[in-house]
Amino acid sequence: MRYGYFDDNAREYVITRPDTPLPWINYLGNQGFFSLISNTCGGYAFYRDAKLRRITRFRYNNVPHDDGGRCFYICDGDTVWSPAYLPAQTALDSYRCRHGLGYSVFEGRKRDVEAVLTVMVPMDAVCELQKLVLTNTSDAEKTLTVYGAVEWCLWNAVDDSTNFQRNWNTGEVEIEGSTVYHKTEYRERRNHYAFYSVNAPVSGFDTDRDTFLGRFRGWREPAAVENRTSYQSRCSGWAPMAALRLTVTLAPGESKTYLFRLGYAENPQEEKFSAPGVINKTRAHALLNAYETAEQFDAALTELKTYWTDLLQRFTVKSSEEKLDRMVNVWNQYQCMVTFNMSRSASYYESGMGRGMGFRDSCQDLLGFVHLIPERARERIIDIASIQFSDGSTYHQYQPLDKRGNADVGSGFNDDPLWLVACTCAYIREAGDFTILDEPTPFNNEKGSEQPLLEHLRRSVNFTMTHCGPHGLPLIGRADWNDCLNLNCFSHTPGESFQTCSNFESGKAESVFIAGMFVRYGKEYAELITRLGLMDEAKDVLDAVSRIETAVTTHGWDGAWFRRAYDAFERPVGSVLNDEGQIFIEPQGFCVMAGIGGREYGEKALASAERYLGNRFGLEILHPCYTSYRDYLGEISSYPPGYKENGSVFCHNNPWVTLAYCTLGDGNGAFDLYTRNAPAYIEDESDVHRTEPYCYSQTIAGRDAQNFGEAKNSWLTGTAAWSFVAVSQGILGIRPDYDGLRIRPCLPDAMDGFTAGRVFRGVRYEITVRRGEQKGLVADGRPVTGDLAPLSDGPVSKITVTI
Ligand code: GLC
Ligand code: GLC
Repeated sequence: MRYGYFDDNAREYVITRPDTPLPWINYLGNQGFFSLISNTCGGYAFYRDAKLRRITRFRYNNVPHDDGGRCFYICDGDTVWSPAYLPAQTALDSYRCRHGLGYSVFEGRKRDVEAVLTVMVPMDAVCELQKLVLTNTSDAEKTLTVYGAVEWCLWNAVDDSTNFQRNWNTGEVEIEGSTVYHKTEYRERRNHYAFYSVNAPVSGFDTDRDTFLGRFRGWREPAAVENRTSYQSRCSGWAPMAALRLTVTLAPGESKTYLFRLGYAENPQEEKFSAPGVINKTRAHALLNAYETAEQFDAALTELKTYWTDLLQRFTVKSSEEKLDRMVNVWNQYQCMVTFNMSRSASYYESGMGRGMGFRDSCQDLLGFVHLIPERARERIIDIASIQFSDGSTYHQYQPLDKRGNADVGSGFNDDPLWLVACTCAYIREAGDFTILDEPTPFNNEKGSEQPLLEHLRRSVNFTMTHCGPHGLPLIGRADWNDCLNLNCFSHTPGESFQTCSNFESGKAESVFIAGMFVRYGKEYAELITRLGLMDEAKDVLDAVSRIETAVTTHGWDGAWFRRAYDAFERPVGSVLNDEGQIFIEPQGFCVMAGIGGREYGEKALASAERYLGNRFGLEILHPCYTSYRDYLGEISSYPPGYKENGSVFCHNNPWVTLAYCTLGDGNGAFDLYTRNAPAYIEDESDVHRTEPYCYSQTIAGRDAQNFGEAKNSWLTGTAAWSFVAVSQGILGIRPDYDGLRIRPCLPDAMDGFTAGRVFRGVRYEITVRRGEQKGLVADGRPVTGDLAPLSDGPVSKITVTI
């Protein structure tokens, strides 16, 4: 069953009923100001950092799930309704939510009044804009009372939801005309404030939440709204908010447009106040002036749409597969932008209060993003490398605001360093920019410790080379990619973090997965430094690669698939020798991609993966699921069977197997797996899948789970980037390389070819792939040996590939 449909021309997903199985959300904003917005207009806004600069309040685990957010009320006679259904929850005569790229539109109709609310974050402004158009479709004049309201968060989202003995004393606002300014803690160490404003005279306002709502009431039926009034409350402590009330008279057929602005501003220390204790509002005024009229709003929306049109031109495809095209051309790339911006910080499931940017997560997110804006990827690589330690190990996470490594989580995830090699090589292949390797980059952000970025990559590679265990395989540390495979943590204390507790330093537990990574990225590093002329070093690295490759074929091969690891007692994990958890997906994907054991092992490994792990939504992470807690494996065995790392389809690693199929040239295998969980392909099962049909989720419950097929944790997952890599570089086979664009499609029998557009190093490659007798690549009329379309000087290069 569906709850909407894709509008491909508009690049929107149109939701046709408010009661989607879960809030279906969208992301607004690209650089500084970010908003999350659900299909019922819930969600929250923050500036740069969802923990440290939270602008509006959001209650996770709330009932109802998605209460609050942007609260609009339209009072028409005795009826109160909201254009997006929530918060009023009055049944609407019609409802639609259109989630577009960086904007969302809510169209509600009730009793001959039509409301169209368009919400967006403009390209370069630090604000969210909400344009409300009200139309009277009746033949009588109507006078409506209209409210727009938001609740302020007291900046630090963790304090805001914990430190009430303080919080309920600090809240402060200022009111000026139709604008409410939020200035809690502005008197002391903060130099930022927020504001909510409407571009028309208000009939009244409230800034104290509890006055506005009244006793025993929630956002559904605030006392002020019920009484069609405002109390002009001036918050002093407690919960500051901004509720703006308009009186709107509409002649028959008449429309009126209002612009609500939710903004944020920072003042330099010496310009904080315009009078003692009074915010200097110059910056807010400038922003409000810039977005004062509907025309200014429309221009900003057009600019945003043009921005996306230009960006998405960088990779386009047209094939016989409508759903593949839809994912590649719009939604997968869009999600790649979101994951690049957010890492795993802020969604409806990631609270934005815990994790900031993840080292391995951000490195991988970059793989699906780098073709869009290589310059931003470059900056990100330097930020990430700056939290690395001088021995090559690294902090696991950092806060986006201060870019400092997160000491609570610390280091010890031994896959982390190698991801830096992966993303740096991907960047250079895309941009051709070797100068990034010279960029002075500190260790642990310490001034004076700067070394060229290349030295960071070298230490990453060295770290793995010098941290191998009894079988010559890389040591796993606290965990590798699978955060929950904690082989050195024997936890028996409830609540203890499996990632940070390591009360058993075995120095022995090894990862076959990291071995696969090393074989792959070690080779990439060797290729890179060969280009720099560092032959001796490249040889040493390649020697290490073959040592580790041999360790995998000797100790990491189980007979019909790759083993996963060796535990602290040197026993295999992911082997027929185990009673549960006999096979894991990760090494099948990575070791086959890395070419370990050649075609023979590759084919066997993928056949085993399909046989034991396959279900109709993809490949489960392991089989059989662990049915009891095992302290020597850690968190993985803490989840009930079929969920999360214990046997769900953990979508992130499915594209590794898709790519592994491509490595073996098996287009049918690749395509079949790709389509089993690509959102557009499973839209018809939205009632089972439950999360948004236009983006990937982290997990889909496996066969052993009660709710088989149900997805969780949508949006912030490495699945976005890897799926884009799998479909664009694997199936369609368009791969940036140092000296040109490599084109090696791996199509299923069901596809005869496709055309694609790819902007690469400033040139637009127009690619036609077709089946035919005369196989090979023709670049601008000239046949080329091999599959590398050379770098071209023209603005356009026409490539034909016959397969
Ligand atoms: C989450 C984490 C990621 C990890 C994965 C598997 O997505 O953010 O870092 O690799 O889970 O445990
Ligand atoms: C990853 C895993 C999750 C685990 C978490 C710990 O996100 O997916 O299961 O609890 O890491 O930080």
